[in-house]
Amino acid sequence: MARLAYVNGRFVPHNQAFVHIEDRGFQFADAVYEVIVVIDGHLIDEIGHLDRLERSLAELRIAAPVSRRVLAILLRELVSRNGVALGTVYLQISRGVAPRDFHFPVGVKSSLVITTTRVNQRFTSPEKLEAGVSVITIPDIRWLRRDIKTVNLLAQVLGKQQAGEQGAAEAWQVDGDGFVTEGCSSNAWIVTRDGVLVTRQATNLILNGVTRLSLIRLAAAQGIPFEARPFTVNEAYQAREAFLSSASTFVLPITAIDGHPVDGGKPGPLCRALRQSYLDYAVKEGRSALTVAV
Ligand code: PDD
Repeated sequence: MARLAYVNGRFVPHNQAFVHIEDRGFQFADAVYEVIVVIDGHLIDEIGHLDRLERSLAELRIAAPVSRRVLAILLRELVSRNGVALGTVYLQISRGVAPRDFHFPVGVKSSLVITTTRVNQRFTSPEKLEAGVSVITIPDIRWLRRDIKTVNLLAQVLGKQQAGEQGAAEAWQVDGDGFVTEGCSSNAWIVTRDGVLVTRQATNLILNGVTRLSLIRLAAAQGIPFEARPFTVNEAYQAREAFLSSASTFVLPITAIDGHPVDGGKPGPLCRALRQSYLDYAVKEGRSALTVAV
């Protein structure tokens, strides 16, 4: 079965799916996106992702190309046509195609592109989960509207590349006062020596991860002590546990930060428990999605 993509109203073979050279996503990174995980053919945390998409569009004053209901149908249709049981669905909306000019074009329809990926068996190998991953820290050089999920990801491309070249899975970005903002494509968490779960509060300085929000809810339901506040790199070095969260990694244990082992260099119990809670929630959510009529 040929892999398909959805581009502005049509399902087309993935290798023939193109956008125009004057698409504003291409010219100005004038576009927003979402990545949603698919488990058993169901979209995980779909409501959170579509809520955030609408918020990103509103903040940039980009008109939605289709209604939320139609978008939900298109996402499912592509997932189904591509036979994605486990994988991701990526969607991108740009301000549309117009001659290159900084001002918003008038009377131009926004562009919608949807693609899927398939994952064999699992997103993260058991070996990786057992060993945990390492992160490095880098200065946060991004603009100040990180709460909008735009395709302007150059700082993150550079950060991830640097991490990879140093044998790390992620780079934690650090603000001018020494506080961690977030990873290049994930939110950053620690568990303090007193057992308090900490992640930075959602402001314009970080992307409010949908996985992050679900984890906060799950932790609250279990009575886990939690603080939404910034933490320094030094506090992270001394933490009892550290981990990252994102749609496709769920919860991933961090066992070294800048080469400092995190508490013995083994994934911690709270991280493991939260990962399991999230997966249980995701599977349940996937099943209940069966009953949601779109
Ligand atoms: N990245 N922070 C940043 C900067 C991100 O790019 C992401 C997600 C997150 C986590 O958000 P969520 O839990 O909603 O996935 C935090 C996606 C997965 C990506 O760009 O591929």
